Amino acid sequence: MKLSRVFACLSLLLIIGVGDSLPQHNPQVSQMVTDFGMKVFREVVQTSGDGNVVFSPYGIASVLAMLQLTTGGNTREQIQAAMEYSIEEKGLAPALRKLYKELMAPWNKDEFSTANAIFIQRDMELVQGFMPYFFKVFRSMIKQVDFTEGERARFIMNDWVQRHTKGMISNLLEEGTVDQLTKMVLVNALYFKGQWKLPFPTKGTHHRLFHKSDGSTVSVPMMAQTNKFNCTEFLTPSGHYYDIVELPYHGDTLSMFIAAPYEKEMPLSALTNILDAQLISQWKGNMTKAPRLLILPKFSLESEADLKRPLENLGMKDMFRPGQADFSRLSDKEMLYVSQALQKVKIEVNESGTVASSTTAIVVSARMAPQEIIVDRPFLFVVRHNPTGEGLENTRWLPIPLSCAPLGKSCLY
Ligand SMILES: *[C@@H]1O[C@H](CO)[C@@H](O)[C@H](O)[C@H]1NC(C)=O
Ligand SMILES: *[C@@H]1O[C@H](CO)[C@@H](O)[C@H](O)[C@H]1NC(C)=O
Ligand SMILES: *[C@@H]1O[C@H](CO)[C@@H](O)[C@H](O)[C@H]1NC(C)=O
Repeated sequence: MKLSRVFACLSLLLIIGVGDSLPQHNPQVSQMVTDFGMKVFREVVQTSGDGNVVFSPYGIASVLAMLQLTTGGNTREQIQAAMEYSIEEKGLAPALRKLYKELMAPWNKDEFSTANAIFIQRDMELVQGFMPYFFKVFRSMIKQVDFTEGERARFIMNDWVQRHTKGMISNLLEEGTVDQLTKMVLVNALYFKGQWKLPFPTKGTHHRLFHKSDGSTVSVPMMAQTNKFNCTEFLTPSGHYYDIVELPYHGDTLSMFIAAPYEKEMPLSALTNILDAQLISQWKGNMTKAPRLLILPKFSLESEADLKRPLENLGMKDMFRPGQADFSRLSDKEMLYVSQALQKVKIEVNESGTVASSTTAIVVSARMAPQEIIVDRPFLFVVRHNPTGEGLENTRWLPIPLSCAPLGKSCLY
């Protein structure tokens, strides 16, 4: 089984298994979180063309859950409709917290951590009771920063991200992304370091040709090992076969699943279009252990996705519109909207395992007040006939000296 065809195209970081591995978790909640994250992933793939995409479904689901609590009206309804759940539904927040705890439980030698943060402009007047309510739902404290000191605020947030991704993502918010108008930033950070249960022998790694989707080839280092793997094959609704192989990590709670179409020319979209939590658990449920020679690229990837278009395509339009976004549950004094939604991911896959990190952020800004023009000084005016572009005095412009219009009276020549 050669997996070179799927190389570096699409990867999903942390799909929460439905009904397997994690003890006593609520399968519905993990399925909802995963399915929503996958929906966003499909949109990201569609808007990103042929590039490599690494995506963290859990990250986007986490920040949008926080966003739900700050929005009202249509803005909130659109988010809930796309996510297909309300964070305020009975029992949901506790189930999410439980899931989070299980994800964070120590797994032998594998390391996994994730954290959410909400940064709010220090002196913003919040709706009464927002802070304790937010704490009640998410059990996480609101961090107050001063965005008017843009660089300092950016440093504080980037530092938080860097610490929670063990240094892998050091510059989440680039220069100029935080300014006087920034009022809130929601962030999820995720870090994973897993060792293969069946490591690849380093001497088995050689350069081989990798076939890109455009028909060209590149020579890349590929790892190889012969072993008994859990594998299966499936058929897409469009009639294409693909192989699936499971690469478990050391602690046996996490695995990487790799799906590769048989035919080189089959577009990966045939797979991504049908991918959801249930399909992945069907893969897992249909696996059998069989000896295979597995050849897999050794790679590291960085990907950055602007989530605005993908989220809009899923119906969450109002939050991006300064005139329509409704953040009335956060603040009824400020007119706010989502000015940016982004995700950065880094992943490295080699003979010993995987190191990966992702950060998802939503930046909420105040609507810029319309620029004022107050004519309270002497002014100059020109009367111009627009169709001809001529001043009314035939071809001559008619500038009126500043001093001529003292109290806003028109000066007639
Ligand atoms: C194969 O799947 C079974 C059942 O989930 C699991 O116990 C086993 O560790 C897996 N083995 C490999 C090599 O993936
Ligand atoms: C195996 O796959 C089929 C679809 O091909 C699915 O209907 C079935 O539920 C799967 N079995 C398990 C145990 O997941
Ligand atoms: C794989 O990558 C990790 C993290 O960068 C590194 O610690 C490890 O030594 C690498 N293993 C091999 C075999 O190159």
